[in-house]
Amino acid sequence: PLRLAVLASGRGSNLQAILDAIEQDRLHAQVVGVFSDKPNANALRLAHERAIPAQYVDPLAYADRSAFDTALFARVDECEPDLIVCAGFMRILSPAVVEAHAGRMINIHPSLLPRHKGLRTHRQALASGDSEHGASVHLVTAELDGGPVLAQARICIDSDDTEESLAARVLRVEHPLLIACLNEWQRGYFRYAAPQLLYRERVLECPLDY
Ligand code: GAR
Repeated sequence: PLRLAVLASGRGSNLQAILDAIEQDRLHAQVVGVFSDKPNANALRLAHERAIPAQYVDPLAYADRSAFDTALFARVDECEPDLIVCAGFMRILSPAVVEAHAGRMINIHPSLLPRHKGLRTHRQALASGDSEHGASVHLVTAELDGGPVLAQARICIDSDDTEESLAARVLRVEHPLLIACLNEWQRGYFRYAAPQLLYRERVLECPLDY
């Protein structure tokens, strides 16, 4: 199985989707560690319930971002993941740890990248008058939300959509998108050979009934 380390700051619905897919034999993977920068993250609770090693690492215990990242990723590396999944991990990572894990770390982001990087993506999509929106899975590189996109799922924006309604609909497509992407990864569809990223030429468009 594909060994996954999951980084999450909050609710953990994407982690839940991964765990469900594994339990239901829709994904040949094993979550070998869950890590959070928030002590009360639901993601930690989900891991504890299943006896998956889970660790909270306190950012305030370190002198700066780079020291925190070094400590966090020392623990991540200890569980020897094949792939690190940022699933609602709301911190910007320092270049050194990104570089050290190049091609082995992905992030799920609630927009159709390269549109709407950063925060409040649903508000950004509405403010831009977009007719469609969605979610992307991309490789993590030093550029925030700027790494190569591996897979996307899209939804239509309706005239009566709000930030909240979009957030809910995008979240529903994130889960199958992430599982589809992890399956493709597990099958060796995405490849990385330093220093080059060799990824599929065409972004995987996720069928929503995946
Ligand atoms: C998801 O919508 C994810 O795309 C987003 O945070 C949410 C986490 O939900 N990530 C980002 O905004 C990253 N910049 P979850 O904790 O329920 O998986």
